[in-house]
Amino acid sequence: MKVRTVFRCVECGTAEPKWVGRCNGCGEWGSMVEEAETEIEAARGPLPTASAPVLITEVVGASGLSRPTGVDELDRVLGGGLVPGSVSLVGGEPGIGKSTLLLQVLASMASVGSRCLLVTAEESAAQVRVRAERLGAAVPGLYLLAETCLTNVVAAIDEVAPDVVVVDSIQTVYEPSLGSAPGSVAQVRECAHRLVQEAKQRSVAVLLVGHVTKEGALAGPRVLEHVVDTVLTFEGDRHHGLRMLRATKHRYGGTAELGLFEMTEAGLRGVPDASGLFLADRRPGLPGSVVVPTLEGNRPLLVEVQALVSEAPFLPPRRSPQGLDGPRLALLLAVLERVVGLPLGKSDVHASAVGGVRIVEPAADLAVALAVVSSSRGIALPPHVVACGEVGLGGELRQVGQLDRRLAEAARLGFTGAIVPVNGPEPPPGMTVLRAGTLEEAMALVFDGLEAVRGR
Ligand code: TYD
Ligand code: MG
Repeated sequence: MKVRTVFRCVECGTAEPKWVGRCNGCGEWGSMVEEAETEIEAARGPLPTASAPVLITEVVGASGLSRPTGVDELDRVLGGGLVPGSVSLVGGEPGIGKSTLLLQVLASMASVGSRCLLVTAEESAAQVRVRAERLGAAVPGLYLLAETCLTNVVAAIDEVAPDVVVVDSIQTVYEPSLGSAPGSVAQVRECAHRLVQEAKQRSVAVLLVGHVTKEGALAGPRVLEHVVDTVLTFEGDRHHGLRMLRATKHRYGGTAELGLFEMTEAGLRGVPDASGLFLADRRPGLPGSVVVPTLEGNRPLLVEVQALVSEAPFLPPRRSPQGLDGPRLALLLAVLERVVGLPLGKSDVHASAVGGVRIVEPAADLAVALAVVSSSRGIALPPHVVACGEVGLGGELRQVGQLDRRLAEAARLGFTGAIVPVNGPEPPPGMTVLRAGTLEEAMALVFDGLEAVRGR
C-alpha cells in the first residue's frame, strides 16, 4: 500500500498536491491541512455485487418501517422513529447533551426489547456506566463498547447483532489502514462510508455523533452530510436548560419539526407543551417587547421579540440580531426608515428572540418592526396583544400560513388581542383582531391611540 501526502480542505474535502492558502474547491481561507493519503482502492476488496433495476411500484418503501425510539421529542423530529438501515448524524457543540440524549434513546429502545450497542470512543465504559445510573439507563439489552478502532467496532456489530448502534463520536474512531490521524477529513469520511455500508447491509439503524466547529458547521468535510440519511442538530443556550433538536436533512420525512428538551439533573426531559415556555420571564408593559405566535413545524410557539433602539456612539450604527435573521432585520429597518419615516440612521438597533429560540419565518416581521417602533418611541404595546404578519418592501402586510392555529394558541395562553393582515381569519372566542393593510396602519392601531391617551 502506497502512502503519499496531500493537503486537504477541512471544509469541503478538496485535495491539493501542494499547500495553498485558499481552497480551490470552496474558497475558504486557511482550511488546508496536511494529510497522509493511503491509496485505498486496492485495499477496498472485491467490487460489490451488481443490483438489478426494479419497477418503482414493486419497491418496498422504508417510511412505514420506522420504529419509535420512545423518546417522544426525537420521534416527533424524525416523523415516527428510526428506520432500520438508516444512518443519522447528530451534531452539536460540546457539552450540549448529545451523549446524554443518545444514551437515553438506547436505554429507551433496549427497555422495549431492541438490541442496542453504544460505541463510546471518547469516554470510558466506566464513565458511561456512572452516567447511565444517574439517568436510569443501565438496562439489560444495552451493550457498551469502549473502542476507537473501526475494525473492532465492526467486529462488535457482528458479535452483538444489534438493532441500533450509536458511535460517539465519528471524529474519534479511525481506520488504521488509512495512516492519517483520527478526526482528519480522510478518516471521518472513510469511517462514515464504512458505517453506512454496514448499516445498509445489516439493516441496523446507526446514529453518529458529530462535533461542530466554532462556526457551528459539522467538523469534517461536507461529504459527511451527503453520505448520511438524516442530519440532526442539537442546540440550545448552554446557560439555559432548554435544548432544541431539529432535522436539517431527512430522507425519510420532513425537516420542519422541532424537538424540545430540558436538561435536568436526571438527564433530558421532553417538553411537550412548549407554547408558553418562552414567555415565562416576560414582563408585560415594557417598551420594545412584542409577542409573536410562531409555528415550528406543526407546533405553535409563542415567542417574545425584543428590540432596543439607542443612540449610536459611532457610525455606522450597529444592527445586532439574536435569534433573528440579520438580513431580514436590515430589510425591516430599511422599510421603517423609508416607508414609515422612522429615523434610524444614527441609532444602534439590538433585536432578539427571547429564550434562545431562533425565528426565521417572515411571520415575525410585524412583531420585530413593532418592537423597534415601540422601543424607539418608548411606548409599550398593550400587554395581552400578539402581532403576526409578513412585511413587504412597500410596507404592506402579507398573509402568513395557519394564522388561525397561531391565534387559537395565543388565545389559549390568555392573549386577548391580535394585530394581523387584512385578510386574517376570524378570531377564536375571547380574542379581538385588529386588521391592518400596512405597517403604518398597524402602528396607528397600536400606538397612536395610546400616545393620545398618554398626551392627555
Ligand atoms: P453530554 O451529553 O456529555 O454532552 P455532549 O456529548 O454533547 O458533549 O452532556 C454534558 C452536559 O450535560 C454536562 O455539562 C452536564 C449536563 N448534564 C446534566 O445537566 N444532567 C444530566 O443528567 C447529565 C447526564 C448531564
Ligand atoms: Mg459527548
